[in-house]
Amino acid sequence: MITSKHLSADELREKFLNFFESRGHKILPSSSLLPENDPSVLFTTAGMQQFKRFYLFPEEAPSVRIATCQKCVRTGDIDEVGDQTHLTFFEMLGNFSFGYPREKGSYFKKEAIEWAWEFLTKELEIDKSRIYATYFKDDAKEVPEDKESLAILQQVEGLDDIRPQGFGDNFWSLGTEGSPGGPTVEFYVDGVEVWNLVFNEFVLKNGTYEPSELKGIDTGMGLERLTAMMQGKSDVFQTDLFDAIISKIEEISGKKYDENQKEFRIIADHIRSAAAMIADGVLPSNKDQGYVLRRLIRRAIVQGRRIGLYDNFTDQLTDNDLVRTETSKEELKFRTTLEKGMRQFDIISGMTVRKNDEHWSKYEIDANQLFDLYQTYGMPIEVTAEIALEKDIPIKEGAIGLFEVMKKNHQQKSRTASSGMFKGGLADNKVETTRLHTAAHLLLAALRDLLSEDIEQKGSNITEERLRFDFNYPSKLTDEQIKEIEDLVNQKISEALPIKMQEMSLDEAKTSGATGSFHDRYGDKVKIFTIGKEGEQPFSREICGGPHVENISQLGQFKIIKEESSSAGVRRIKAILQ
Ligand code: SER
Repeated sequence: MITSKHLSADELREKFLNFFESRGHKILPSSSLLPENDPSVLFTTAGMQQFKRFYLFPEEAPSVRIATCQKCVRTGDIDEVGDQTHLTFFEMLGNFSFGYPREKGSYFKKEAIEWAWEFLTKELEIDKSRIYATYFKDDAKEVPEDKESLAILQQVEGLDDIRPQGFGDNFWSLGTEGSPGGPTVEFYVDGVEVWNLVFNEFVLKNGTYEPSELKGIDTGMGLERLTAMMQGKSDVFQTDLFDAIISKIEEISGKKYDENQKEFRIIADHIRSAAAMIADGVLPSNKDQGYVLRRLIRRAIVQGRRIGLYDNFTDQLTDNDLVRTETSKEELKFRTTLEKGMRQFDIISGMTVRKNDEHWSKYEIDANQLFDLYQTYGMPIEVTAEIALEKDIPIKEGAIGLFEVMKKNHQQKSRTASSGMFKGGLADNKVETTRLHTAAHLLLAALRDLLSEDIEQKGSNITEERLRFDFNYPSKLTDEQIKEIEDLVNQKISEALPIKMQEMSLDEAKTSGATGSFHDRYGDKVKIFTIGKEGEQPFSREICGGPHVENISQLGQFKIIKEESSSAGVRRIKAILQ
């Protein structure tokens, strides 16, 4: 590959930001990987996300010209990771403008295109003949051809190759209601897309793109890809961004990157992504961001085995203490599962008796066995498949498909079971149990009120003696916090608040602001229990199928008897009513 100027990733980042700073842009820091006040996405996936509002309300922007280097996570491509370019975590360089033409200093297509060209060809000194550009033209869509961009591109000196592309390639939108979107111009170098310039001139409303009065610019250039290009590499894992982690994997495994590219790439990408997530406050769990993180760490561990890393290693791939602690904890947990599962695997597959038996096809693993490994031993199917490959044990044809069906059926069955006789995680239907169940609602409301609105129920188990309640929270509660929680619950009990039950659709329930973590477990109609005074903001409003007392004054004195860790990022409270 032809190289131009050799630049490190740090130099590129700096060059980009300086270039736009000297063109009147305010340089802002990357926002967190966890989007603030935006439940529409799990992670930040693009530079424009933190500025989404400014396209509609430019007067709120700290400047009408902004440039950033934004940390992003995209999970849609996890299965592609292992090739030369796909990454879960990456950095995106971007310049933005809002409120065109109304706001003074705002700009649109002409400046965006000309500056991109100038940056690539003058600043980075990429030979013009290596570059081509695409613009939007799609006869099948109501959105008109972007003739304006075509005309500007035709004026660019030295750009000889301009290609039309359709909606799938040259139209960009976050895809969420109310978000801006529009046609794009993309710059390719040596056939690889490096820079995407989005011209936000539409807003997605009720599923259609409506022209917006104010227009904006949103560009994105993946730093890792750009770095590879500038360093003459077609493989992002061979750039200086990955040097340290790849060498470390070579060192601890004694294997070479060149001979084990796929495994090295997955481990490097996944652990680097996990580190970025943990640094931004995600902890491994079974839900949402935490679940993505857990899968990344576990997948890295599985790949590690393929290059001979059978002992804990993730902590050696980062020097951030928090990250080390968290990945190690998860690794330890997963290895215990793996070991048990693998012992069982050996028994099931006949490995323990097989030895030199030549008729080993009789030991093929079938769907029932896959299901047992999954259900009883917690082995994810992809891990079992990996191990089977490693040990040269065949999986029966069609068994994986059958396994998936069994898994679905089982999920359905457990859903039905959980909506059975004793609802709401109750062990029985006794009065004591019912009282504790109502108390659990108060407890959740108090936790959300006092600690964090993000708290959700992660599990509960209620007997006539005590309630056990699990919820997401990153740290141990202090004695003061426990006291405050008890006090708030007891205060509400003393206010003798009434409880009201209503039935509504799940959607209505969500809009009404009800909490309830087990979204997909509920049927069409759900019951909502509201605790609070008529006409006032309720203290608690929860989706729940269980029985409740009629008035909370019947509860007595609420007392927390234990607070402990339940699993990574999940705390457990045990409480009684006196
Ligand atoms: N939002 C566009 C992208 O993600 C350009 O920044 O590609």
